[in-house]
Amino acid sequence: MLKLKNKLKTLLFELSPRLAVTWGVEFPRKSANRLFLEQDIFKYLDTVLNDESAHCLFIGTDKRSWHYRLRFSAKFFTIDKDPSKAIYGDAHNHRIDSATELTRQYMRDQFDVIVANGVIGFGVDRIDQCEDLFAGLETIMKSSGVLVLSYSNNPSHIDFKLEDVKNYHLFEKFAPHFNGLDQSEYAFGDHVFVFLRRAGLGQSRVAQINE
Ligand SMILES: C[S@@+](CC[C@H](N)C(=O)[O-])C[C@H]1O[C@@H](n2cnc3c(N)ncnc32)[C@H](O)[C@@H]1O
Repeated sequence: MLKLKNKLKTLLFELSPRLAVTWGVEFPRKSANRLFLEQDIFKYLDTVLNDESAHCLFIGTDKRSWHYRLRFSAKFFTIDKDPSKAIYGDAHNHRIDSATELTRQYMRDQFDVIVANGVIGFGVDRIDQCEDLFAGLETIMKSSGVLVLSYSNNPSHIDFKLEDVKNYHLFEKFAPHFNGLDQSEYAFGDHVFVFLRRAGLGQSRVAQINE
């Protein structure tokens, strides 16, 4: 029954994304990692995206995430390389392009928050693709920005460690210390969330405190 309902909802999106959005069609049965994203992480991101001029980029669009743009008052942008996923992207600010070519679509220092949920290991699977991804992310994210990354560390998805990606080190992990989020990394089975900011920011903050 649930499968049939989901099929009908997917069909509605394909026929009329606008109608599906107007009716607020959502897909229930959320995994623990998605609940963590939608509840704990988004609450923290509210504190970063605290004015309407803030910019948020969500990489990879899907039926389970189309409504995220309604959740935030910030300017919301989406990108997915698969044209068939555009129906789940933002009506005005969706781009069909690869996350490995972010500077083709976005400006330097444009984003306060970037969320890449389930893109590494779900299309961005090679180390050279990750190099391009992180280089682009570093360019388009503000120096004060927050990057939330989630990926599968199962060898069937990626056969290397993120630490082996040189450009991953343009970022550093940090713990938000907000509402119980006191770790920089959370794992749900092989699904890992990491909070990242520009590398070196931690040190410059310590230097500021000591001045
Ligand atoms: C597992 S889904 C996650 C979707 C969404 N981020 C979410 O949280 O629901 C992975 C998505 O990443 C997209 N994707 C894969 N490789 C990509 C790339 N190089 N650039 C942009 N999107 C990509 C796929 O088309 C797919 O829609």
